[in-house]
Formats: sequence, structure tokens, C-alpha cells
Amino acid sequence: MIAPTEFTNPNLDVLYSEKQIRDRIIELGEQITADYAGKELVLVGVLKGSCVFMADLMREIDLNLAIDFMAVSSYKDGSKSTGDVEILKDLTNPIRDKHVIVVEDIVDTGLTLSRLLEILDSRGAASIKLASFLDKPEPRIKKELKIDYTGFVVPNKFVVGYGLDAAGRYRNLPFIAVVKDPSAA
Ligand code: IMP
Ligand code: MG
Repeated sequence: MIAPTEFTNPNLDVLYSEKQIRDRIIELGEQITADYAGKELVLVGVLKGSCVFMADLMREIDLNLAIDFMAVSSYKDGSKSTGDVEILKDLTNPIRDKHVIVVEDIVDTGLTLSRLLEILDSRGAASIKLASFLDKPEPRIKKELKIDYTGFVVPNKFVVGYGLDAAGRYRNLPFIAVVKDPSAA
């Protein structure tokens, strides 16, 4: 019997395989390539969760584009997001007159992202759209938040892998998995 590794952890149930993810990212890349032809595009990744999605997505977009990153921390009231965000790392370059796609790992309540989009909107971008690898619509509080490019819609369960973590762990998994027993994660 081979001892379980991170990739074969019995507490994880694979939801989307590496192959399924790869196929979906190719589709998203083609869509973005068509939508932004002839425009100056900046992909803004929200650290840390978006790093894997960002790296794969940008290589499927056949345009002259720039990338930048932000890190924000959302203030929590217990385990619930309050919607107040603090900018921990800001963009390196201005986005005025640029076409921006904010790249996220997952949209859950949508509180953090709505606030972040307001902040970016005040900086005079030509347009701001949202690409989220995962959409977990059930806990959504900000119902008006529109995700322009979605990888997959997931059930209201805690998922990890492909950049998403549970207390800092599992970001390196090449697939998306549901944590069966979160208390044991
Ligand atoms: P919200 O949309 O403001 O509730 O916050 C979304 C953030 O919470 C995401 O960017 C993730 O960092 C984190 N998050 C929400 N659901 C999950 C999950 O199932 N797994 C891992 N992180 C999650
Ligand atoms: Mg995040």
C-alpha cells in the first residue's frame, strides 16, 4: 500500500481534473482573445489564490497584454467577510484608459471583489471585467456582481487546489477537489 501524498490525499474528492481544467482554460482564452482584439488589455491577478489560473489563462490569450497583481485582505467578522478591504499590495502601473480583466480564484459572497472593483473603477480604466476560475453562487450576497468569464460553477462546499487553499495548504494541487472533512484538512 502506497502512503497517500498531497495528490492522493483520501480527504479530497476530485471535482475537476487537470484535463478538464486545461480544456476549459483554452476556451476562456479563445473567448478573451476574440473579445479584446485590438485593445490594450491588462490582467490584474488577485493574490494569492489566482496565481495558477492567471499563469495558465494568460498563455491561452493570443494578444499583446500586460499583467499586474494586487493583494487585498478582507476584514472578517468571525468567519464572515464584511466587505471592507485593505490593499496589502497595490498595482505597479496605472490602469487609466486600459481595458482591465480582474482575475480571481473564486467568487463566494462577492463582498471582497465588489469593493475591489469599486476601487479599480475609480481609477479611470477604459473597462473593467471579471474572470473568476470558480463561481460559488449559493453564498452570494452581492447578487449584482457579474462574472464575465467563469471557469466552473461549484456547489456550496469548501474546495481546494489550483491556487485555492485551506489554511495555506493545497494551492499546488493540479486539480480542484472538495475537502470531505474540513476539520481534518
Ligand atoms: P468573498 O467572495 O468575499 O466571500 O471571498 C472570496 C474569497 O474567499 C476567495 O477569493 C477565496 O480566497 C476565499 N474562498 C471562498 N470560498 C473558498 C473555497 O471554497 N476554498 C478556498 N477559498 C475560498
Ligand atoms: Mg481570493
